[in-house]
Amino acid sequence: MTRTPIREVLQSDAPEPEILIEGWVRTKRDSKAFSFIEVNDGSCLTNLQIVADATLEGYHDSVIPLTTGASVSVRGKVVESQGKGQKWEMQAITVTMLGSAEGDFPLQKKGHSMEFLRSIAHLRPRSNLFGAVFRVRSRMAYAIHQFFQDRGFVYVHTPVITASDCEGAGEMFRVVTMDGEEIRLGDEEFFGKPSYLTVSGQLEGETFACALSNIYTFGPTFRAENSHTSRHASEFWMIEPEIAFCDLMADMDLAEAMIKHLVTDALESCREDLGFFDQFVDKGLISRLESVRDRAFERVSYTEAVRILEESGAKFEFPVEYGHNLQSEHERYLTETHFKCPTTVYNYPKEIKPFYMRINDDEKTVAAMDLLVPGIGEIVGGSQREERLEILRANMKAHDLDEADYSWYVDLRRYGSVPHAGFGLGFERLLMFITGVANIRDVIPFPRTPGSAEF
Ligand code: 4AD
Ligand code: MG
Repeated sequence: MTRTPIREVLQSDAPEPEILIEGWVRTKRDSKAFSFIEVNDGSCLTNLQIVADATLEGYHDSVIPLTTGASVSVRGKVVESQGKGQKWEMQAITVTMLGSAEGDFPLQKKGHSMEFLRSIAHLRPRSNLFGAVFRVRSRMAYAIHQFFQDRGFVYVHTPVITASDCEGAGEMFRVVTMDGEEIRLGDEEFFGKPSYLTVSGQLEGETFACALSNIYTFGPTFRAENSHTSRHASEFWMIEPEIAFCDLMADMDLAEAMIKHLVTDALESCREDLGFFDQFVDKGLISRLESVRDRAFERVSYTEAVRILEESGAKFEFPVEYGHNLQSEHERYLTETHFKCPTTVYNYPKEIKPFYMRINDDEKTVAAMDLLVPGIGEIVGGSQREERLEILRANMKAHDLDEADYSWYVDLRRYGSVPHAGFGLGFERLLMFITGVANIRDVIPFPRTPGSAEF
């Protein structure tokens, strides 16, 4: 008999009368005549309740020793549940313990702190919360591919190891090889020159957009920034579409459409898990997501955003000043207090943005955009790229970049240059937004942050 996922049983109006399920024991209750075993196999949030009659053959060897965390295989009859909350339960015919769980299995009790659960990242997927988070993570990865593939975008695999610093912030991990204890550098360098883990696939992505028109990347990126916040990780995944024959307006349209698509898909496909988050993690989550799905987003220029913040009368830890980056508290004020909806801020001062962004006609600002959402701040950063050869060269100079290091990038402007634009969506920030989970460490299977690379 093949295994039936518990999700299929619980969602069915007419399940097969006799099935085999396998999973892990969440709880067990023994009475004189029966044992009630709650089994979860990770296919959905809800457990399947198994009723094992004490007269069952092998009851004392296979049912009595089952404790929380043990793995089990059960063949039985699906019957209508007498209890409330769920439709079906299972009357066991045979119960086989696959693996016992030692008495110190740490997920016995509820009410563990998130910090403790991080320290058992190898076991936390077996909890309700983390099972739900990682099912949503999987579904959102699928929905991202679907969004772009349905629109004819080509998925490009940009390199993880690179020699260029796309964002120009110098926050990179160096790639080196070892010779015993010795690190090989200089002439001995594996790639013949310094190489790093990528901070962004954008520059390579642009080369493909300037050939295939509409492309996207979706892969891991790395940043060695020493940020100890709930929104920064050293390793995170980014989705980076790049579109040829496209300006900043169309770029913002695409970013908004993508966020709406993902929120809509989560509301439809992850209803049970979102219900759990709404109840236990972030009250009101579902109605907020519904309003993100249904309402138009706001757009405001950086200059206007600074004016709103200056006139707000709100007290900020960091002063608001034209020419400085918006701090997370400023971003959150705009999207949570002022506009009360996702908001795109565009046209930033050129001094605070990387070399590749297109200089606007005012010669002061660049065609950049950040999409901000309530609760988090920036989840998307993007721009129209500088497609004019001489202006790009001047811009590289202004950023102290050596053109020789980026000759291939400059070539795109020498051979059939076209207006093009793109953006990067931080996958984990999106997941925080959709699940209401407040710390980025809790939407990544094995998070890497300064000082921590366990597992
Ligand atoms: O704004 P960023 O730095 O933009 C870029 O990397 C561009 N090259 C993207 C492009 O135009 N193709 O990063 C993009 C997004 C941010 O908005 C944020 O959501 C996320 O990546 N991000 C991080 N997420 C988690 N941890 C970090 N340390 C992050 N840094 C950026
Ligand atoms: Mg950014």
